Amino acid sequence: MDKPHILVTGGCGFIGSNFIRYLLSSGACTITNLDKLTYAGNLENLKGFEARPGYTFVRGDIANEADVERAFAAPVDAVVNFAAESHVDRSIMDPGAFVTTNIYGTYLLLEQARRKGVTKFLQVSTDEVYGSLGETGRFREETQLAPNSPYSASKASADLLAMAYHKTFGLPVVITRCSNNYGPYQFPEKLIPLLVSNALVDRELPIYGDGLNVRDWIHVSDHCAALALVLDKGVPGNVYNVGAGNERNNLEIVEIILEVLNKPRSLIKYVKDRPGHDRRYAIDNTKIRDTLGFEVHVPFKTGMEETVRWYVEHRDWWEKIKTGEYLGFYEKWYGSR
Ligand code: NAD
Ligand code: DAU
Repeated sequence: MDKPHILVTGGCGFIGSNFIRYLLSSGACTITNLDKLTYAGNLENLKGFEARPGYTFVRGDIANEADVERAFAAPVDAVVNFAAESHVDRSIMDPGAFVTTNIYGTYLLLEQARRKGVTKFLQVSTDEVYGSLGETGRFREETQLAPNSPYSASKASADLLAMAYHKTFGLPVVITRCSNNYGPYQFPEKLIPLLVSNALVDRELPIYGDGLNVRDWIHVSDHCAALALVLDKGVPGNVYNVGAGNERNNLEIVEIILEVLNKPRSLIKYVKDRPGHDRRYAIDNTKIRDTLGFEVHVPFKTGMEETVRWYVEHRDWWEKIKTGEYLGFYEKWYGSR
């Protein structure tokens, strides 16, 4: 029997590239990767994997119908949709791109998947669709959607559209909502790679507000394992929250990085807060553990130390990124904070 063929979108980004590495290493399927190569897409993230048998790269936009049709040229068994504008701060600067890619792009993929008939459509979503928590409680799958940023609102919209395709057309949609990922190949606009790469050149470490906002961190490899599980065993029409139970405030994160790199606290610079900054996220992962057997493998301390070391050892990877467009973004966002 032929191996299943998976259409992965956004496979040149942080989580998508880790997921493609994960799937191709298992040898269980073949893959088409549809990626527009925006500022966040990087072919180097898949170095060494481009020539693997069963892997095809299609440069294209999920918000362009002809590109989506091209990506479906080989019969597709399942779709895993990572492609998105993913940075909250950029969604505050330029919401339009988020509406186009995250909502309209998801619609075009759903529509093509419906026409072609796939056995699974996995929409990779985020815990940010639930909004912000107070001091206690955790997000469950039933928690009301209450997104606060243009990014999270666009992701929530895509979730609703995907579920409507399940209910109306019977498309076998599953949705995952994961907490904050960390690990190799994360674009250095996100907190951890930004702090590590700045600290390595003794540049200030911008911390929003009082630094006490809480995120629930999961190593990207644990997220990829959860996605593979949901792709294989997830029941259509279901949402699965994914998290590893590692709540940390932002000051705790910066302290770990400074300690591993042996850098001084004086690098920390408190800057103007992000507008609409969600205070706390925390995931209840009972459903994916109890119904699909998900287990967390990477302990937070080990995962963080390895991650910091990865950025130390892959300086050429982030140095190339922190030029051109990146510098323009950095100046525009942080210059006046
Ligand atoms: P990323 O920004 O690193 O990568 C996004 C990828 O999508 C890039 O390769 C980019 O080129 C591609 N892309 C963007 N617009 C496209 C378009 N119109 N057509 C085709 N490709 C396009 O993002 P990430 O952090 O890897 O996140 C991937 C997905 O996971 C997103 O959907 C995000 O919402 C979700 N997610 C991320 C996290 C996290 O902590 N990073 C947590 C939960 C969920
Ligand atoms: O929760 C999942 C989400 O996690 C994903 O859906 C998003 O794609 C991903 O970007 C991430 O969103 P966050 O906004 O939580 O991640 P970010 O790395 O931008 O910020 C993490 C925390 O650090 C947040 O409280 C804001 C703070 N921060 C961030 C930056 C970039 C700072 O204090 N300073 C900074 O310079």
